[in-house]
Amino acid sequence: MSLDVDALLSELTLEEKASLTSGSSFWYTAPVERLGIPKIMVSDGPHGLRAQPGEGDHVGLGGSLPATCFPTASAIASTWNSDLLRRVGEALAQEARAANLSVILGPGINMKRSPLCGRNFEYFSEDPYLAGELGVGIVEGIQSRGVGTSVKHYAANNQETDRLRVDTQVDERTLREIYLPAFERIVKTCQPWTIMCSYNKVNGLSASENPWLLTTVLREEFGFAGLVVSDWGAVYHRVPAARAGLDLEMPPNLPRSPDQVVAAVRAGELDEQVLDARARAVLELVDKGMGVLDLDEEFDAERNHALARAAAAESVVLLKNDDRILPLASGSRIAVIGEFARTPRFQGAGSSQVNPTKVENALDELRAAFGDVTFAAGYGIGDTSADEALRAEAVDVAAAADTVVMLIGLPGADESEGFDRTHMKLPANQIAALHAVGAANRKVVVALVNGSTVELGEVLPHARGVIEAWLGGQAAGGAIADVLSGKVNPSGRLAESVPHRLEDNSSYLNFPGDSRVVRYGEGLFIGYRGYDATHTDVAFPFGFGLSYTTFATSDLDVAVSGSVAAGDLAARVTVTVSNIGPVAGAEVVQVYVRDVEASVARPVRELKGFAKVALEPGESRQVAVDLDQRAFSFWSELLGKWVVEAGDFSIEVGRHSRDLPLTRTVAVDAPSIAPPLTADSTLHEWMADEQGLALIKEAVAAGQHDPTRDAELVSVIGTMPMSTLAAFEGMSIDHDTLDKLVERRHAH
Ligand code: GLC
Repeated sequence: MSLDVDALLSELTLEEKASLTSGSSFWYTAPVERLGIPKIMVSDGPHGLRAQPGEGDHVGLGGSLPATCFPTASAIASTWNSDLLRRVGEALAQEARAANLSVILGPGINMKRSPLCGRNFEYFSEDPYLAGELGVGIVEGIQSRGVGTSVKHYAANNQETDRLRVDTQVDERTLREIYLPAFERIVKTCQPWTIMCSYNKVNGLSASENPWLLTTVLREEFGFAGLVVSDWGAVYHRVPAARAGLDLEMPPNLPRSPDQVVAAVRAGELDEQVLDARARAVLELVDKGMGVLDLDEEFDAERNHALARAAAAESVVLLKNDDRILPLASGSRIAVIGEFARTPRFQGAGSSQVNPTKVENALDELRAAFGDVTFAAGYGIGDTSADEALRAEAVDVAAAADTVVMLIGLPGADESEGFDRTHMKLPANQIAALHAVGAANRKVVVALVNGSTVELGEVLPHARGVIEAWLGGQAAGGAIADVLSGKVNPSGRLAESVPHRLEDNSSYLNFPGDSRVVRYGEGLFIGYRGYDATHTDVAFPFGFGLSYTTFATSDLDVAVSGSVAAGDLAARVTVTVSNIGPVAGAEVVQVYVRDVEASVARPVRELKGFAKVALEPGESRQVAVDLDQRAFSFWSELLGKWVVEAGDFSIEVGRHSRDLPLTRTVAVDAPSIAPPLTADSTLHEWMADEQGLALIKEAVAAGQHDPTRDAELVSVIGTMPMSTLAAFEGMSIDHDTLDKLVERRHAH
């Protein structure tokens, strides 16, 4: 069954059309029984369903149906594996179909501007290219099973502090190159059924009523053909929002919002064609979403749990492995320390919180893998009253073991939707316990369980092995055991840098802003782009991750084709990857592009491609990564478009953003990107232009002083507009002459 949208639109009354543009309740669109238009259900969340059959809430306080809790975004992003994201998406869709749920409110793809953002666990990366590729994977996976997605939060919603009112002040180039590309990539590649607009303002105008964001950029430039839904409670003025391109307000604000829409149309303040466009988007969504309404399907909880465990294991990043302490030898006498080993921290708080079908803890799973292991809590979570005793017990247990496995991380109260952290430190009682344990036993392996990066200065000296397990979902405990036992060779790579300290992060001085304004003063330079630009050392760079085996890369080749002028510049990067170590593993070959010399500030290098390849010991394989013209481009604020500047580009290939041993310089030809010469162009700009320089020389009357020949003079006046110089006595070119020069230059 499907809806005849055109026919319905012509039959709907004004009031019915207005009613469609608001939900009917917390999780449902509005039906129109008279015309057989059903309501459909939408629900969180990005890494597992939070379906609430009854009245709902948007902060995860109420209960929800049991569902598989997959690794959260920051975990699964560390796999750099879009195909895995696709498989997880298919599983999420299977569970949505079983709940007759039409749209999953995810993925969250906001950039990690600061390590402090309370929802970083819900977002993929500090890099827009990686976030876009991973977002495509999960959106394609979900939508391949007839379930929709809601890519969120559009746009520049990178903090929780004052999130409903804060005005994100950010220049257009930074928006275009950092905060919009992941949305652009997903829209242009797989047309998500919906986009969720964010709570915040963007340059003074709420995202929910921002025509530039919702219509000019999203629809007219990116070609988005779906529905824009508000974040829950993000519509502050319904009629301006409808005008700007906001199709569906959730949750509904009844009867106020539909009444306002009807009144505005009647008063001629809202064109009915605009309302028709909003109602059409809702009808088209309902038409797609109604396919799941009458299904009677089950989902395979065990199968999805197994997928969650495999995904969580692939999310683990091996940060340190001194003396090859990992994988742990079977038969070792192991002490497991840490309350998080018994009481797992596996997901974040807020709207994404899942009611898991089951939960594995690391203690049981390590016991299953290594036989009888001893245990001590070592520290309290939240309640630190017994810490001294817990620490003493942990020291005794550690001293009696060959090796210690210690889980430490961020308590749920430290990071969540709704607020940001104020520091990057691990709890002091956990650090104290680690130091005490490390003094009692030199062979310590730390497993970190946290949603966003933490400072590791107090951890690394006290552990020979460190894995970052993030918030790995309901199977995180099993995944940690699978990695520590060597059943799984870790292949995770950091999707966000780990700075030595918070102050090194480029957003530090401008986070989270104040007085309801946050200024993105660092511009493009977030994450590794910032650390590279300021030559700042980091604990672990973007893209970093060790393995139990060793890889070599060789035979780099870069084949350039097309041209900037034709708009089809491309480069095929090929490299051979070899597993020269003892066990099977997966390598992530990363390709960065560096504009060697640019007329504008550009990041030192930017990720523009990657390939994950699994290899048996001794196996080699050639991998290919294709770069398109965008990979070389930047957004020109002067020209208001993407441009490639002629010159050399360095293609850099390796294991992570600071280990790129294979490089190739390619010379790229491109039309000039200099703006057309005018009277207000500077002397430098006229001299940099071949015709411009010739025209000046020609205009200088014989015997007059030619300023362009006087290097010292040019160094002083070169940045001055010609229109200013023309007024100067003694300058060889007056206003009339200058006007003629401009005319003749344009005639060229
Ligand atoms: C929340 C979140 C959004 C979620 C929505 C519904 O406030 O910002 O991510 O999907 O409301 O719960």
